[in-house]
Amino acid sequence: MTIARAHTNIALIKYWGKKDPTLIIPYANSLSLTLDQFYTTTEVTFADEAAHQDEFILNGQRLAPKATTRLAAFLELIRQRARVQRYFKVKSENHVPTAAGLASSASGFAALALAASTTAGLQLSSRDLSRLARRGSGSACRSIFGGFVEWHKGYDDQTSYAEPLQADQHVAMDIGMLALIISDQPKQISSRKEMANTVATSPFYDAFIQACEQDMIILKQAITQNDFVTLGQIAESNAMKMHATTMGAQPPFSYFLPETIQAIQAVQRVRREGLDCYYTMDAGPNVKVIGRASELETLQVRLTELLPNTPMVAARPGPGAMLLSDF
Ligand code: DP6
Repeated sequence: MTIARAHTNIALIKYWGKKDPTLIIPYANSLSLTLDQFYTTTEVTFADEAAHQDEFILNGQRLAPKATTRLAAFLELIRQRARVQRYFKVKSENHVPTAAGLASSASGFAALALAASTTAGLQLSSRDLSRLARRGSGSACRSIFGGFVEWHKGYDDQTSYAEPLQADQHVAMDIGMLALIISDQPKQISSRKEMANTVATSPFYDAFIQACEQDMIILKQAITQNDFVTLGQIAESNAMKMHATTMGAQPPFSYFLPETIQAIQAVQRVRREGLDCYYTMDAGPNVKVIGRASELETLQVRLTELLPNTPMVAARPGPGAMLLSDF
């Protein structure tokens, strides 16, 4: 039995769009921060010899076969690579505050990649593990590592992987995030579908990809120079450019809810009051506020005054995927 844990990551330069949807090769490099608060713990064993399919239990509930197509295809990849025939039994727990709406495929596929590949007898390097996790969900390749992580888009299965910017967990910058829980409703449109539709139809998509290149250069410099303000400005701007592409898509689409705008305005107000903070958003209405780790509590108190009905969870840089046990 193998148990692995991986934490979620939030992109500062967003991954949005696949050049190769099967191998999950993106159009641009992306850069994220792995967090310490939201994680998935996954236990994998071989199923009985007689089993004729993989079995999945998520948060104590057995998943119906039709909900497991993507997971089963991912395990099939591992079977092929390890040259094993046996099906797997997977038990996974998402440690995300109730109703956080942050349950991310990133921590899920990163933990599954590590636990299942270990069970199958593969001893993958972190880079190969990152390449494998990528096949489950693009952003999962970054959750193999802690702290600031860059996903090199590459051009094929071999060259598309993530790499930590600084040694695992040694984030020098005074940085953290506040996750603002705007909504716990399931997404109306899956990010995978919307991503593909944006690439196919949005006239803003090319401009976004070009902007990512420039944003990446400035953001990496900001990290090297420990320049929190520039990092925040670039992350905020990059996220909004990504969201602008979906508005230009056909049909037009936006992840924003009215409460999302209210939260953004609250962040802008707190910033005007003198506390450095910036916002980013992913494929959903929740807002993540980027702040200095040392000021996170003050930030949370002030934002709670402005948004009394919005639950908030404070997070700091977190570690890469790890094995908790293997026996
Ligand atoms: C907006 O990694 O969930 O969070 O590769 O289709 O599984 P798939 O997509 P996924 O997309 C994440 C998109 C994002 C930005 C990011 O995390 O970089």
